[in-house]
Amino acid sequence: MEPILRTDRLRVEYPPSRRGDPPKVAVKDLSLEVRQGEVFGFLGPNGAGKTTTMSVLLGFLAPTAGEAYLFGVNVRNPIARQRIGYLPELTYYYRFLTAEEILRFYARLFGLNGVEAERRIDRLLKLVELEHARNRQLKHYSKGMQQRVGLAQALINDPDLLILDEPTSGLDPLGRMKVREIIQRLKQEGKTVFFSSHELGEVETVCDRVAIVHQGELKVVGRVDELVRTHQANLEQVFLKIIGYPTCLAA
Ligand SMILES: Nc1ncnc2c1ncn2[C@@H]1O[C@H](COP(=O)(O)OP(=O)(O)OP(=O)(O)O)[C@@H](O)[C@H]1O
Ligand SMILES: [Mg+2]
Repeated sequence: MEPILRTDRLRVEYPPSRRGDPPKVAVKDLSLEVRQGEVFGFLGPNGAGKTTTMSVLLGFLAPTAGEAYLFGVNVRNPIARQRIGYLPELTYYYRFLTAEEILRFYARLFGLNGVEAERRIDRLLKLVELEHARNRQLKHYSKGMQQRVGLAQALINDPDLLILDEPTSGLDPLGRMKVREIIQRLKQEGKTVFFSSHELGEVETVCDRVAIVHQGELKVVGRVDELVRTHQANLEQVFLKIIGYPTCLAA
């Protein structure tokens, strides 16, 4: 069966900030496969290349070399993105719109109008627990509330694949738990979730498989339970070991 998400020796170089400097290689020949129905954690320290990889999948950046595919369609073709939902690392929504208006705007982008759009908006505001604030302008929202609007926005088109760039960043422990529950519910509905996170404890609880990237290179990919068993350590310790942090300190 064709993987839902696949990268094949993907390489991304950013132009140098100063003339004469070499280009910055953000992603180095990354080959990765995410299968239907998986919750897949894309892990790596700051600057590892996670957001850059997602930007290629989203069509924001063209790869320097290699290819990427969603649902078997090359990401150079916008059709590849028809069935995905995306939560960016930083959300910049129009501050003077309410949550309801933002979601209506995104619904329209997907051609959803009328009763069907309103039904989805109601359901999603309930899911992310923002019903009480639905008519408040976003400028009055806390960071965590804005993050939850972002998650609702990512789900508006009922996508089959969710690409979430640090979905729990800025959320309090309760908010993080709710996001975990949403991810688990999406999995039960047969959706595929590909997300980045620095919260390794929660990654360990929700992910089927993870990939750890470091300086643009894939260091390890595997089932969470197998990695934990093989290394006889929790995921955070495995992560620190793989990125070369002294294990005596990591233990
Ligand atoms: N627009 C850009 N121009 C030049 N270099 C960039 C640009 N965006 C990212 N980089 C560099 O590419 C590398 C990968 O960055 P990226 O944002 O993909 O990392 P990340 O894994 O998402 O990190 P974080 O966990 O901090 O979000 C970093 O070294 C970064 O400095
Ligand atoms: Mg990032």
